[in-house]
Amino acid sequence: MISKLYIGTNTKMYKTIADTVSYLEELKKLTADIDRNLIELFVIPSFTSLSRAKELVSDGSIKLGAQNMCWEDQGQFTGEISPVMLKEIGIDIIELGHSERRHIFGETDEQLNKKVIAALKHGFTPLLCIGETLEQKQLRISDECLSIQLKAGLNGISESDARKIWVAYEPVWAIGVNGIPASPEYADEKQGVIKKVLYDLFGETGSDIPVLYGGSVNPGNACELIKQPNIDGLFIGRSAWDAGNFNSIIRDVLPLFLSKKNLN
Ligand code: PGA
Repeated sequence: MISKLYIGTNTKMYKTIADTVSYLEELKKLTADIDRNLIELFVIPSFTSLSRAKELVSDGSIKLGAQNMCWEDQGQFTGEISPVMLKEIGIDIIELGHSERRHIFGETDEQLNKKVIAALKHGFTPLLCIGETLEQKQLRISDECLSIQLKAGLNGISESDARKIWVAYEPVWAIGVNGIPASPEYADEKQGVIKKVLYDLFGETGSDIPVLYGGSVNPGNACELIKQPNIDGLFIGRSAWDAGNFNSIIRDVLPLFLSKKNLN
């Protein structure tokens, strides 16, 4: 059973090292009193910020992630970052397959599968992002697309390794400045589809994989989203990039999450 609220942000290609440092310092201070047995709070900043960021959150209060990773440990892969390099910094999570990686940089399910396997081999938590495009939604093939992205991306993963995986459902049409937020009901239905595929793949272990929702999460919709039975957490972009705003969202949704799970 999912007994913690998973909540985090990817700062994309925003925030310099200095920006990331002040953001993390503030977020750490603002959330210091929140029991970490109840939330898994994470931030995924730029690669250049990771070393400094790690120094700030070495107490584990905020988990740290990378926005991408190569599947090879080393080699002739100009411009790539290897798992060994990320391990050296001591980060926790590898975000894989964000919509911008898939759609701007052409990452495929096959490549993502290699990255998930490499992340697991090195002891990271892979956070696999999936989501249908607007066209796929209009063609009513969203469920099939989500199923393909999961089955291809998680191909060959053992049940015991599956325990370490997190999944984020981020409909492509819902992300970013031009995104239209998914209704809580729609998001919940698709999260249910994802949970069913995870169950088919990994049995009971699949039910323990947290499935987060992302895509235009904001202070106005976060509460309704987290109340949905199949939403285990939120993966937030713009609305979390101000530490004060992010802290407010966390405090709004945490009690709702806990009462949904009967944990309070
Ligand atoms: P957004 O970004 O919240 O700004 O839409 C979400 C994401 O890309 O993960």
